Amino acid sequence: MLKALTTVSEMLARNLDVLTQQPLLVCGLLEDNLPTMLADAGPAPRIFTTDYSYYQWQKNQGIKDIEFGTQPHSQAASAILLLMPKAKAEAEYLLAACLPLLAEGALVFMAGDNKGGVKSAPKLLAPYCDQVVKLDSARRASLYQAQLTRPAAPFNMTQWQKGYSIAQEQLQICTLPGVFSAGHLDSGSQLLLENLASLSGRVLDFGCGAGVIGASLLKRQPELTLECIDINALALEATRLTLANNQLANQAKVYASDGLSQVTGTFNHIVANPPFHAGLKTFYHTTEALLNTAKDYLTPGGSLTLVANAFLPYPELIEKSFGHCETLAINGKFKVYHATRR
Ligand SMILES: C[S@@+](CC[C@H](N)C(=O)[O-])C[C@H]1O[C@@H](n2cnc3c(N)ncnc32)[C@H](O)[C@@H]1O
Repeated sequence: MLKALTTVSEMLARNLDVLTQQPLLVCGLLEDNLPTMLADAGPAPRIFTTDYSYYQWQKNQGIKDIEFGTQPHSQAASAILLLMPKAKAEAEYLLAACLPLLAEGALVFMAGDNKGGVKSAPKLLAPYCDQVVKLDSARRASLYQAQLTRPAAPFNMTQWQKGYSIAQEQLQICTLPGVFSAGHLDSGSQLLLENLASLSGRVLDFGCGAGVIGASLLKRQPELTLECIDINALALEATRLTLANNQLANQAKVYASDGLSQVTGTFNHIVANPPFHAGLKTFYHTTEALLNTAKDYLTPGGSLTLVANAFLPYPELIEKSFGHCETLAINGKFKVYHATRR
């Protein structure tokens, strides 16, 4: 987690007089100590995040008014600052979820990295605001301001659900904006599913996304004790919906965890198509930490099976931790690795 201010927050620092005229509801791509900067300059902001690691970090920093989930609580807000998230669909979702909390005439701010899609702010705000002005632009970041002229309709989560089926697994997958594998089964996840041996006991689906892997495992072997974890609230909700769509809801525990931080006890198997992108940067930390510590979360004889881009140096890390690493499958882009706690 970044401790120093991002370039976006550095630009926002030049606009604190406008931003702190009212308490802000801040949401979107939160990565730094922006909430403290805002609180030092004016009324403490209310923070809404879908990122469990940011939520935990800010809680530990003493930030009290912070919510983690798929949508903010229904309490009214005076103004909103949306930090442009990775995906445009996620920005649309966050606006739809947050803007119903504002009264007509309230201020709406959008900020972000120019390379991260913030330039689409006028288009994203067009359904709600007549005029969108660019307030500032510096160091590849921009800040837009608008006034809510058309009050937003009450938020309805079901309108944001999309789905697709995986014929070979006989599954209906439910996805939400920004969740991995939005429109189809990822070819890495497919390779993993094709090469998984039959499992037994307590199984962890690490970074469950829309729940593709966990739901497939349960469909094949309903007797498994499955736990699905993810850092992202929308992914966790998509997994819950996917499990419910396939009548598997009562058979799994789905919960937020940053890496293995919230996981307790040991598993017979850990299965993952782990993350390798975070924000606009390539980011391997989560997966490296998984490879280094998974052994401690496995019963003797328990296994870790994961799929990853073939170019990533994971076999060495797995060997270092487990003493061996087997490659179960290779296609053009991905490899499936397997190791057992001896
Ligand atoms: C490559 S996707 C795989 C999703 C799903 N398992 C599939 O196969 O379609 C990786 C997932 O890991 C999650 N993730 C990223 N960082 C994480 C972390 N620190 N702890 C737990 N999950 C994380 C992402 O939100 C994403 O859903």
